[in-house]
Amino acid sequence: MKITKLNEVQISNKNKEKEQFAIDVLTGFTSSPKSLSSKYFYDDYGSQLFQAITQQEDYYLTNIELNILQNSKDALPELVQGEEIDIIELGAGDGHKTKILLQGFLDSGFRVNFYPIDISYEAMNLLNKNIQDSENLFIHGVVGEYIDGLRYVRSLSQNQQIVLFLGSNLGNFDMVSSQVFLRKVWKSMNAADYLFTGFDLKKDVSVLTKAYNDKQGYTRKFNLNLLTRMNNELGANFQLEDFQHFGVYNPRLGAMESYLLSLKEQTVYIKELERSFNFDAYEPIHLEYSFKFSHKDIAFLCEQTGYKIKHNFTDEKNYFVNSLWEVVKN
Ligand code: AVI
Repeated sequence: MKITKLNEVQISNKNKEKEQFAIDVLTGFTSSPKSLSSKYFYDDYGSQLFQAITQQEDYYLTNIELNILQNSKDALPELVQGEEIDIIELGAGDGHKTKILLQGFLDSGFRVNFYPIDISYEAMNLLNKNIQDSENLFIHGVVGEYIDGLRYVRSLSQNQQIVLFLGSNLGNFDMVSSQVFLRKVWKSMNAADYLFTGFDLKKDVSVLTKAYNDKQGYTRKFNLNLLTRMNNELGANFQLEDFQHFGVYNPRLGAMESYLLSLKEQTVYIKELERSFNFDAYEPIHLEYSFKFSHKDIAFLCEQTGYKIKHNFTDEKNYFVNSLWEVVKN
């Protein structure tokens, strides 16, 4: 497997990352309600905790999507058709889901060029252990931001493309950001290329609530890890036991929302910002949206952003959808 690092200078610039983290904390903590971007969940420990979450029964999303991929792997190549394809994955992680889809294309006689794109070099190394080049499979990992990676891959080849955005990652964007993101992806593709995205469907609130408040407490640890990160990286003095994880469904937005609640009135000092922040008792810090979709929401988003639905793959319970969209340009 070949690996290309885009913007190497920027990626290795730890100080710049720290400065951006500090600025985002300052912006979030001076907003009302206080907030923090969910992108900071994924340091090494946070990524491990997310992996642990995906193995919990309460967090049904990952297993159901795996089943959908197993059941759709033969139908997908038939819908896409052709002899050679560039499969580009955004946020490829360790590649265990993608492996199923790659096998489907290889079994159908395709020559497959697989381009996993991930901001993390470690993730790319992990993927490298799980998936290797073989007779008709050529892997070229790209370390960089999604859109930069997509542009780079297009500059390498004019083959038909299928872009994978699995999991329910799109659900972590707010509605405007998802539309902007989908349009940027559209811009990087040609007519009749495809986008294959995971969507968690709207469902019984008790099922959703359990998924984001798992029994083993991994989601709680995942959220509290943001306080640990601020303590370690920005010299903050958060006491983790003074904050409570709270995951709740907001039916007006159609999203699960994650909060940390301050259990008492308290002041926290952040050295890197040279200032303190006051928290009232039970004041929330908003951390994450996980949007849930109806079939109608998916159809609307698809049409709005320049695609048409080719096929929806779902499960028996109608909990999750992997939706294949064709790029429309006219
Ligand atoms: C990564 N993302 C799709 C997960 C989700 O379901 O929104 C992140 C997560 N947050 C809490 N549990 C899992």
